[in-house]
Amino acid sequence: MKSIILAGGAGSRLYPLTQVSSKQLQAVFDKPMIYYPLTVLMASGLREFCLISTPIDLPRYKALFSDGSQWGITIEYREQPRPDGIAQAFVIAADFIGKDSVVLMLGDNIFSGGDDFPRAVSSFSQGARIFAYHVKDPERYGVVEFDRNGRAISLEEKPKYPKSSYAVPGVYIYDNDVVEISSSLRPSARGELEITDVNLEYLRRGKLQVKRLSRGFAWLDAGTSGALHEASAYIEAIERRQGIKIGCPEEAALTRGFLDIRQFEALIDAMPACDYSAYLRGVADEWYRLEGPGGER
Ligand code: G1P
Repeated sequence: MKSIILAGGAGSRLYPLTQVSSKQLQAVFDKPMIYYPLTVLMASGLREFCLISTPIDLPRYKALFSDGSQWGITIEYREQPRPDGIAQAFVIAADFIGKDSVVLMLGDNIFSGGDDFPRAVSSFSQGARIFAYHVKDPERYGVVEFDRNGRAISLEEKPKYPKSSYAVPGVYIYDNDVVEISSSLRPSARGELEITDVNLEYLRRGKLQVKRLSRGFAWLDAGTSGALHEASAYIEAIERRQGIKIGCPEEAALTRGFLDIRQFEALIDAMPACDYSAYLRGVADEWYRLEGPGGER
C-alpha cells in the first residue's frame, strides 16, 4: 500500500504565520506539524510515500525529509500548483500509486491514541475505508450520516445543517479504483475536486466502509491559530504526563524495524543536544534493556 501526504493550500487562515512558512511546517508543540501524520502512517507499517505540496513550499519539505532513506522509507515529491482540491492528489500521483491501493492523509491532521488506524490499514483489502469522529462543529468538515444499524447512508461536505455530529477526518484508505474515480470528477461549486465526492462514489458503488473512531482517540486539526494552539497544548500535556513523544518518525522507524538500532543511534549522534535527541537516547536505552544482547551496549 502506498501513502500520500497532502501538504498543499495557502494556509490563509493562519496568516501571517504562513507568509514565509507552509502551514504543515508550523510547530505543533515540539515538532513540525507534518511529523504527526507521517509518523501515524509509518507506525502503521507504511514505507512508500509521496508528498504533495505547492511549488513554493516543496523545496522546504525536500530539505526536511530528503528521500526518506535516513528513516528507512522512500519519499517522492509532486507539485500541486493550485489548491484545486484534495481528490486531485490521486490524479497528480497516479504514476506513484501505479496499481496499488493507497492511503491519503492530510498534512494538518493530528491523530493520537488507539490502534483503530493501524488495524484498518492491515486489514484493508478493497473498496474505501474512511473514519468518523464525533465533534462539536461538524459543519466545518465532511459529515457522515448513519442509519439505525450503523451503516453510512449519506455524506456531505461542510453542510450548513449537518445531519449528524460525525465528521470525516483527513485520512482515507482506497483501492486502486480511486485513480479512475478522481480522474472523472468535476470541480464542485467552490472549484475543487472534493474528497467527499470520491467517498460518495464509493458509497454509490456499495464499497464504502466507515469506521467510527473510539472515544479514547484524539483527532485534532490545526487549521486555525486557535486550533494550532490547542493542538500544541494537547501534545505537550500528553508528552509531559507520559514521558513519551507523539509524532516521532525516528521512533516509529525503529519500532517498525525500518531501521536497526545502529542506524537509529547514528541519527541521534548527528542531532544537536536538545530535548528531542535526549528523548531518542532514552528510546535507544529502552531498546537495549528490552531487546539488546544482555541489555548492554
Ligand atoms: C477537508 C475535507 C473534509 C474533511 C477535512 C478533515 O476539509 O474536505 O471533508 O472533513 O478536510 O480535516 P478542508 O481541509 O477543506 O477544511
